Amino acid sequence: MTRPIIGWEQEAPVPDGHQFKSYLRAENGRLHMNNFDLAQLFLGGGVEHKLGRILPSPLEIVFLPLIRRQIAYLEEIFADVRAELDYEGQFLYAYASKANAAEEVIRTTLGAGAHHEMSSTIDVDIARKMIVRGLLTPDRWLVCNGFKGLGTGYSANIIRIKDEHDKVVPVLDDLVELTPFHNSGKKFEMGLRQKAYGPQTTIDEVEAANSRFGMDVETLWKTAEYIDAAPNLSLKMHHFMVGSQLTERAAFVDYLRPGLETFAQLRQRYPSLSIFNFGGGMPVAMTLDFEFDYRAFAHKLLTAAQEICGRYNVPVPDIMGEFGRYTTAEHGAHLFKIIAAKDNKSDLPWYIIDGSIMSSFPDSWALGEHFVVLPLNHLDKPFQQVQLGGITCDSDDVYPPKGSTAPLYLPTETDDLYIGFFSIGAYQEMLGGVRGSKHCVLPEAYELVVDETEDGRFRFELIRGQTPDEVLTNLGYGPQNAWLKIATE
Ligand SMILES: Cc1ncc(COP(=O)(O)O)c(C=O)c1O
Repeated sequence: MTRPIIGWEQEAPVPDGHQFKSYLRAENGRLHMNNFDLAQLFLGGGVEHKLGRILPSPLEIVFLPLIRRQIAYLEEIFADVRAELDYEGQFLYAYASKANAAEEVIRTTLGAGAHHEMSSTIDVDIARKMIVRGLLTPDRWLVCNGFKGLGTGYSANIIRIKDEHDKVVPVLDDLVELTPFHNSGKKFEMGLRQKAYGPQTTIDEVEAANSRFGMDVETLWKTAEYIDAAPNLSLKMHHFMVGSQLTERAAFVDYLRPGLETFAQLRQRYPSLSIFNFGGGMPVAMTLDFEFDYRAFAHKLLTAAQEICGRYNVPVPDIMGEFGRYTTAEHGAHLFKIIAAKDNKSDLPWYIIDGSIMSSFPDSWALGEHFVVLPLNHLDKPFQQVQLGGITCDSDDVYPPKGSTAPLYLPTETDDLYIGFFSIGAYQEMLGGVRGSKHCVLPEAYELVVDETEDGRFRFELIRGQTPDEVLTNLGYGPQNAWLKIATE
């Protein structure tokens, strides 16, 4: 197995102008993110950024133009391929809010024209706020995944929002989820989720999959019949998600074929069915060695849909994807200062950062996932191979993750050295939690939201970090805590 490339892998300095990724470039010894000199946030100098202040480290930074870029890129590819293949269905880009539900993210995805996929009752509240603000417009689909059985707050909230927004599709993961929507008496266009997970290319393999999500084929057809028989319900969407980060383009589409086949069979019986939703899983660059041909994927997927639907003599579907990681991974970075270079005769020197790797990027220690790490300054100095230690008192608070063979090189010059973890914008913050109390009671960092105006200037919002009092109050030590305690006998 090849190992991931997570940064600069040489002792020589990084040549000026070196492009690590389309949006990360070395310039005058500093790292630039879309023309924005990151080190200036802590050290000043560089481009005039009009922030008017030096910021404290650690610092989270989110770059909203990168979200828009992702959406526009895939929209453009599918538009081209649809034209080339005379594909009659539409491409529907939905954002999977579970990847990152922050307000600035949702406002950006909706502002860029995305449909919206959600998985819990608070997600419905977020959608409601976006309807009121005019960002979730009547033309957008609201796709409701996640468990929504009878008596759950989620099903009740979906039923309520139907009065505020018409294009709501509850996607049934199980027959038991049908009842609330049937009983509501409201007209709902429904989705069905077929059980699917992993490398399956035949319907028998799909049926044998061990997955907590979706229905087996027999239950799927039975649920479709119930929907058809209900006067207020109709079948609109078939949902078939096969996994996450499927970097083998050819295999990805092959795994989707049994789902397309089931779609075509259902479509023969239920003409209201018009959307094939392949869920999430679209890969995105988490490391520097990433390669994926999105255009070839789109071509192969639409060709497969044409071929299969042609065989069943049914119209091709509108194709929907629920893009979580693809949309948000690259827009987020987390910046730290190296506060000590420690040589305790371990295999490699330890560079200690002023924050926690574990609680900032839970997928790194929990799943051994890799992210890109680059210095923000001293790129023009020699490098050495190192390991990173977080500031918590925990032996797992290290990077590269334990067991990894990916080398990490950073500058030997550690005076005022700042580094960034990149491609961390999806899931990490939601898993680590926003605000609250973190491992070893470290307060949450400041966050800088960066956007670009139409004339190419940067625009900032600065969200302050947690104060010690906030952390203490959260743990029950503040005077306000008396108000939170509910009286018991
Ligand atoms: C139903 C559903 N849709 C979409 C997604 C988003 O997946 P990804 O972030 O890989 O795009 C997930 C992720 O778990 C999911 O469960």
